[in-house]
Amino acid sequence: MSVLFSVAADSYEWAVREVRGEFGREVRIERVSGDLGRVTGPSVHELAQACDAGRIMFVRHLTTEIGSFEDLPPDYELADLILAELPEYPRALAVQAWTDSAATGGTYYHRIEHALTERGVAVTRSDQEYVVSCFAGRRAVLLGVNRLADSLSDWPGGRMRLARADERVSRSEFKLEEAIATFGLELPAGGKAVDLGASPGGWTRILRQHGQEVWSVDPGELDPRLRGDRRIHHEATTAGRFFAANRLRFDVAVNDMRMDQVLSARMMVDAATHLRRGALAVVTLKGGGKNPLDGARRGLDVLRQQYAVLHARQLHHNRNEITVIAERE
Ligand SMILES: C[S@@+](CC[C@H](N)C(=O)[O-])C[C@H]1O[C@@H](n2cnc3c(N)ncnc32)[C@H](O)[C@@H]1O
Repeated sequence: MSVLFSVAADSYEWAVREVRGEFGREVRIERVSGDLGRVTGPSVHELAQACDAGRIMFVRHLTTEIGSFEDLPPDYELADLILAELPEYPRALAVQAWTDSAATGGTYYHRIEHALTERGVAVTRSDQEYVVSCFAGRRAVLLGVNRLADSLSDWPGGRMRLARADERVSRSEFKLEEAIATFGLELPAGGKAVDLGASPGGWTRILRQHGQEVWSVDPGELDPRLRGDRRIHHEATTAGRFFAANRLRFDVAVNDMRMDQVLSARMMVDAATHLRRGALAVVTLKGGGKNPLDGARRGLDVLRQQYAVLHARQLHHNRNEITVIAERE
């Protein structure tokens, strides 16, 4: 049985290295499309565990392949194929379809939806115990069925779509929202949060939505729309200078500073004495350099001096970077 794994197209090579590092060089891996690969050997559960623990960072979605077709089979056959994979007859399934072109995969979604609803199975786009995945590539249509718990993301191929809204102050906001949703993060009610590299204030805005009072540290400006909020404190300085003078203790620290992985992780280590034990940290370790995998690993090694690393993953909204979730020890 093979597992289909989704990655950012530029990170395919790093994901392959991580999978081989975890499961051995003899594991068979082939590229299916720009951002999709197929691995034969480890089970989806074993892969998901390695991804959840951050040992594999560059994979963002998994599904167990159940078939590869020129086109989807007729309704009855299609439903039989899917239902045969499940331990019991389901009342509802999530169906997620995507393509390697500009098309959304809607046609495939509706064909699978039709085949399943005819057999009395309700279909939604997310939030079910089992997910049917359908990837329509140029050469083949691939079908997968999987427990959501082993999928890493509840979006087609891990491609999370968040609404663009007028109140958004930066594209970076998506990264924090995606991290909170993907890892089910809970921010302490009425907590104090420090936002390092805050300008123009997207992460600050999301932290406020999650009930935090925020100290936004960045020599750069905050968006004028954030100015009236008395629970946002703009510290127009660098992170180093801020901590040199700071007397507060924070419950949450986020860091989206544009900085090399190791320097950014060192700043988090310096920040640790300003955080309470068990404080939540969200850090983007920016790619850069010829080998982002080694860079990320070096950054994580530094972080581990003061934090337990809970997750590390290149999410859909990350560009050349990974997002790390950690807890102050
Ligand atoms: C990608 S932007 C942050 C975007 C922000 N998270 C948002 O959602 O709007 C990176 C920021 O890091 C800031 N930065 C870089 N080095 C810094 C330092 N030493 N201290 C504080 N901020 C720094 C830059 O000024 C820049 O505004």
